[in-house]
Amino acid sequence: MTSTTEPEIRKGLAGVVADTTAISKVNPESNSLLYRGYPVQELAARCSFEEVAWLLWHGELPTPAELAGLQEAERAQRALAPQVRAVVDAIPTAAHPMDVLRTAVSLVGALDPTAADSSREAEVAASVRLLAQIPAIVAYDQRRRRGQDVVEPRDDLDLAANLLHMTFGEVPDDVVVDAFRVSLVLYAEHSFNASTFTARVVTSTLSDLYSAVVAAIGALKGPLHGGANEAVMHVFDQIGSADRAEEWLDRALGEKRKIMGFGHRVYKHGDSRVPTMKAALDRLVEHYGRQDLAELYDRLEAAMVARKSIRPNLDYPSGPAYHLMGFDTATFTPLFVAARVTGWTAHVMEQRAANSLIRPLSAYVGPEERHLP
Ligand code: ACO
Repeated sequence: MTSTTEPEIRKGLAGVVADTTAISKVNPESNSLLYRGYPVQELAARCSFEEVAWLLWHGELPTPAELAGLQEAERAQRALAPQVRAVVDAIPTAAHPMDVLRTAVSLVGALDPTAADSSREAEVAASVRLLAQIPAIVAYDQRRRRGQDVVEPRDDLDLAANLLHMTFGEVPDDVVVDAFRVSLVLYAEHSFNASTFTARVVTSTLSDLYSAVVAAIGALKGPLHGGANEAVMHVFDQIGSADRAEEWLDRALGEKRKIMGFGHRVYKHGDSRVPTMKAALDRLVEHYGRQDLAELYDRLEAAMVARKSIRPNLDYPSGPAYHLMGFDTATFTPLFVAARVTGWTAHVMEQRAANSLIRPLSAYVGPEERHLP
């Protein structure tokens, strides 16, 4: 006897609990996000990005000696190998910086003789290597697109300040460095989002950490995920000024377009990270005297809430914040990678430690069995 019960299909795996994790907890009801138990707002207020990276990988904040060890290892690996520079140079500047980063990270993995070593010790070392190399790739690519010479890393600067130094050739004011550090902490981890789940799927086949990260970069690129911070800036550019926000929004919604930087699969009453990033954006607006940008931000948000009751996600304040810092718009999502690589690699190690091949079922809806004539 055949069963007539239809399998339950959860489109987009919405609401599916796929596994346990001890890395972060997203609670949409209390609107909170905890990294290893710590509220992300506290970490953003008081911790360096390197401390947060250690926390995500190891489960506890580092001791002073552990932090010094991490800083030493990360700072020692910031320079790009000549092969990596040559491959980046070979990619046309018409290619998106996410494509450049995906390619360069793949090469960093291929150049690592320990890439196939899946011991925890080797994977922590590979994670530190990526933590150091990704900012260097992002900075190198933005500078070559601007026709500027490479800026060598400075080992007296932390990761956030050094990334800014390698991109712009100088360390900006503290308020800018701090806003950037805050963005890295907020972007670092967010449970089973699409790119992190991608990294876990790849790891579940017993593939290597670099392959998982390359795949995750591909998943993050899309505008429904990390690509939204870039897309938000294009929206701001299209609208132009605050007084045109409502008119632009009505037209876009009339055309059934998704408004980038708004909405979230998990948070339905606002993204827990937005207030902290908005406060950092406000400090940048003050610093650069760009109240016009803040007005546009507020008008579009108010109109979107009034019309659709949909609130901003983290990409909404991050996009204009990166713009004010001076980054090219196409570089925004690579900056997200520089942060999220910490969460991805933490999940690779967690998946590896209690692995089960991730392989869901599908409900077939094609033709019934048939035969060649
Ligand atoms: N603009 C317009 N309408 C929206 C938006 C939006 N940004 N987000 C959701 N909606 C509407 C949908 O049209 C849908 O309406 P309907 O029921 O009338 O058809 C309803 O809200 C539910 O939307 P879904 O897309 O089904 O919700 P889902 O949970 O799948 O989407 C997502 C989440 C993909 C993030 C969506 O909100 C979106 O596309 N946002 C814009 C892209 C974006 O900002 N992504 C960044 C995510 S956060 C991050 O990566 C840091």
